[in-house]
Amino acid sequence: MEVASALFFIVDPFRWKTELKAQLKRRMLAAEVNIGYSTDLTEHANIKMTKQKTSIPSFRYFIHTFGCQMNENDSERLAGILEGMGAVKAAVLEESTLILINTCAVRQKSEEKLYSLLGRLDRIKRKNGALIGVLGCVAQLYRDNLIEKKPTIDFVMGPDNYGDLPDTLAGISSHDPQSKRVITRFSREWHEIADSLILRESSFSAYVTIMEGCDNFCSYCVVPFTRGREKFRPIRNILAEIQSLAKNNYREVLLLGQNVNSYKDPESGISFVDLLKTVNSVEEIDWIRFITSHPKNFSPEIAQTMAANRKICRQLHLPVQSGSSDILARMKRQYTRDEYLENIAFIKVLMPDIALSADIIVGYPGETEKDHKETLSLLEEVRYTNIFSFRYSPRPRSAAAGEEDSVPLEVKRQRLIEVQALQKDIQLSINRTFIGKNIKTLCTGKSKKDTGRYTGRSEGYQVINFDAGCDVVGQFVQVEITSCGPYSLRGRMVESKDACPH
Ligand code: SAH
Ligand code: SF4
Ligand code: F3S
Repeated sequence: MEVASALFFIVDPFRWKTELKAQLKRRMLAAEVNIGYSTDLTEHANIKMTKQKTSIPSFRYFIHTFGCQMNENDSERLAGILEGMGAVKAAVLEESTLILINTCAVRQKSEEKLYSLLGRLDRIKRKNGALIGVLGCVAQLYRDNLIEKKPTIDFVMGPDNYGDLPDTLAGISSHDPQSKRVITRFSREWHEIADSLILRESSFSAYVTIMEGCDNFCSYCVVPFTRGREKFRPIRNILAEIQSLAKNNYREVLLLGQNVNSYKDPESGISFVDLLKTVNSVEEIDWIRFITSHPKNFSPEIAQTMAANRKICRQLHLPVQSGSSDILARMKRQYTRDEYLENIAFIKVLMPDIALSADIIVGYPGETEKDHKETLSLLEEVRYTNIFSFRYSPRPRSAAAGEEDSVPLEVKRQRLIEVQALQKDIQLSINRTFIGKNIKTLCTGKSKKDTGRYTGRSEGYQVINFDAGCDVVGQFVQVEITSCGPYSLRGRMVESKDACPH
């Protein structure tokens, strides 16, 4: 009997559950002395120390992330929570005993990525009994239905509930179908994940979430049903995080939210403009970006603040969706084509060198050839440096889901091709104007294939591929642009005594 149970322990891939419970107990004890949000815990060094200190054997996790930057940032937090519990990131999916899928529901195609991944995970689960959790926007949207439809899933968790991850893991076993859990409560208030570590992908550029949710209910959009109503993170927590990033040599912050312009500090009522000014005053941070802005909330004051505070990048993502006022009205976007263009004209007067980008939807129900031509002419008028364009996809619970998806797939395809072909030409002609110029570039990585080749971003968020004589990842360098394509600029680093000093 004893031998059997010992053997069971050796081969049981779920032994981490017992380890986890013990770890959880320790965390709770630790939480008594570590009240609230500890900024220094964002340091990688601390995370490593936590791992070294614990004598509890590690379990291996893998997080697969779909969707927007907010999901990426959430995954960094989830990784932090798991590592704080003694878990170790698995090198490959097949080696992990805990698999989290952070999902996106924005279009049917985004959702389908989950189902095809689950097919693959099914095989891994049968082999090593891995525990599978589905998180993010698909989780929140389908709740119990998801687990009923896909029994391979052990738990479903919506974005407002990530603080419950340790308790949830401690209560689940993939041996026991009765232990499956669905945690999809919405909370009206902002909840900081207590004593959370953030295991960031980058050591020099960081996402900082400032708000979550959306009150706009654009007719095509599922996000208000997956992220709930707008709620704002207290400014003191935002600043604590940014100051900690600055202390740890981060150079760039990207403020995140579905509708950042409507930010209001829940305690003082401080607005987005004041938040921008405050972040601008954090000395060590060089570049500040924010995403996403809504054209109806993007006030002249925000543009003036960008123009007056030089650390705020001259780059703006202002999704227009369509160039036709009729379609915009039916999408419930609350601005007309002319109002949008007036906004853009004002921004360009203040910042002639600004890089603009947008999202475009083609084939919204009832979109005529004339509406489509208006989208094309708007692209010509604004001259974005980049766009993200999509075929309309009906989404559950959205207002437009009740309308007939009337534009045939072939027409949608053709319109998308036209939008992307025109934009490609515009981008190429914009990019050509940079040839021969020296551009300040934040180096974000090196080429896996070619030594001496690096990649980075300009202030306008354009991709810059360049040659350099030494490793400059994480540094600002000057790059002389020598050639370009429609989607990137190419060049060589201008040697200086700061770069490659040896
Ligand atoms: N909060 C942001 C982004 C939301 S989702 C905003 O308001 O702009 C990102 C983009 O996905 C949207 O801007 C839109 O262009 C696209 N999108 C959203 N729902 C869609 C749908 N049902 N079909 C096609 N594209 C969609
Ligand atoms: Fe969706 Fe509109 Fe909200 Fe953006 S503003 S998240 S498109 S509902
Ligand atoms: Fe997708 Fe949710 Fe982001 S639906 S775009 S992951 S907010």
